[in-house]
Amino acid sequence: MKVAVVGATGAVGSMILRVLEERRLPISRLAAFASRSHNGAARFGDRELAVQAASEDALRDFDVVFFASSEDASEKYVPALVARGAVVIDNSSNFRLREGVPLIVPEVNGDAVRPEHRLFPVANCTAIVLCTALRPIRDAAGLNSVRVATYQAASGAGRAGLDELLAGERAAALGESEPEPSVFGRPLAHNVVPQVGSFDASGYSIEERKVCDETRKMLDLPELFVSATAVRVPVRTAHSEAVFFETARPTSVARMAAAFASAPGVVFHAEGIVTPREVEGSDDVHVARLRAESDDGRHFALWCVGDQLRKGAATNAVQILELLRAKGYAP
Ligand SMILES: NC(=O)c1ccc[n+]([C@@H]2O[C@H](COP(=O)([O-])OP(=O)(O)OC[C@H]3O[C@@H](n4cnc5c(N)ncnc54)[C@H](OP(=O)(O)O)[C@@H]3O)[C@@H](O)[C@H]2O)c1
Repeated sequence: MKVAVVGATGAVGSMILRVLEERRLPISRLAAFASRSHNGAARFGDRELAVQAASEDALRDFDVVFFASSEDASEKYVPALVARGAVVIDNSSNFRLREGVPLIVPEVNGDAVRPEHRLFPVANCTAIVLCTALRPIRDAAGLNSVRVATYQAASGAGRAGLDELLAGERAAALGESEPEPSVFGRPLAHNVVPQVGSFDASGYSIEERKVCDETRKMLDLPELFVSATAVRVPVRTAHSEAVFFETARPTSVARMAAAFASAPGVVFHAEGIVTPREVEGSDDVHVARLRAESDDGRHFALWCVGDQLRKGAATNAVQILELLRAKGYAP
């Protein structure tokens, strides 16, 4: 299988290379691309990969192309690749809500893949974590509404986001003046910033809209009420979410706990708490603090945490490829 990774020098692209290596996919040729050529800026196991500038011509000869780059790059290269039959797994938001394009999280809706599908957007990282946590509840008791407040890590804004947090932390520790923030709307070190992406006319941010729209699509509940408040926090990696939900049918904490215990991709913490530092590096979504909000059997709350570079992006992307190969839809 000939595989290309576009965006290989970035936070998600370098993680895709790592996950491909960890999961030992049978790759006969692997190539790394970015906006320009770089020396030694990508690794596959012990091997340094030459990083080339992406171009239509350079991407022509691959069976599978992962995109972890910019919205522009996906928009420019994906249509021709799909037209010639390559499998494209794209972390940008360009195609996620397009009619007829599946938005796959294997543990949630892997059965939505059809043999003719070639384009697989990877959903928003916050929405992947949320849907993996909500699927067992949807299956056990249905869902009427979901409200979520997110606590999103700095690396969710890529390498530049993580660097900005680290520079701010370093300056604060040394008592120096902090660099002006350019990735986040306010300095993130020792702070929380209740804005992820720009706001629309309704007052919601782009990130909040993505979480709502993509959650409805992945859970296959087009009428589901979803509302989100997305907040950036001074955490390096792994997004956390406080989720408040109403089920369609009466249920109980015990019944939902039983559903979580057998849910793929979920680690359920019946007691205690779980934090992003503990979850960094994990491919599972961790669910804790499941509790009833009232005694009507329909209103509940939980806390969930997922490594957004792995399950929220790279691992989910590679799992899509594994799913396609298991179904015989990819080489
Ligand atoms: N960070 C996350 O947690 C996360 C989670 C889910 C989805 N995503 C999505 O994944 C994608 C990558 O995000 P990231 O956080 O990894 O960003 P990042 O750390 O800023 O890396 C961006 C990568 O894309 C490359 N690139 C930029 N413009 C390009 C172009 N025109 N052609 C080819 N390559 C180009 C960059 O190459 P150079 O080094 O040459 O600039 C770099 O390798 C974005 O669509 C993002 O929304 C990110």
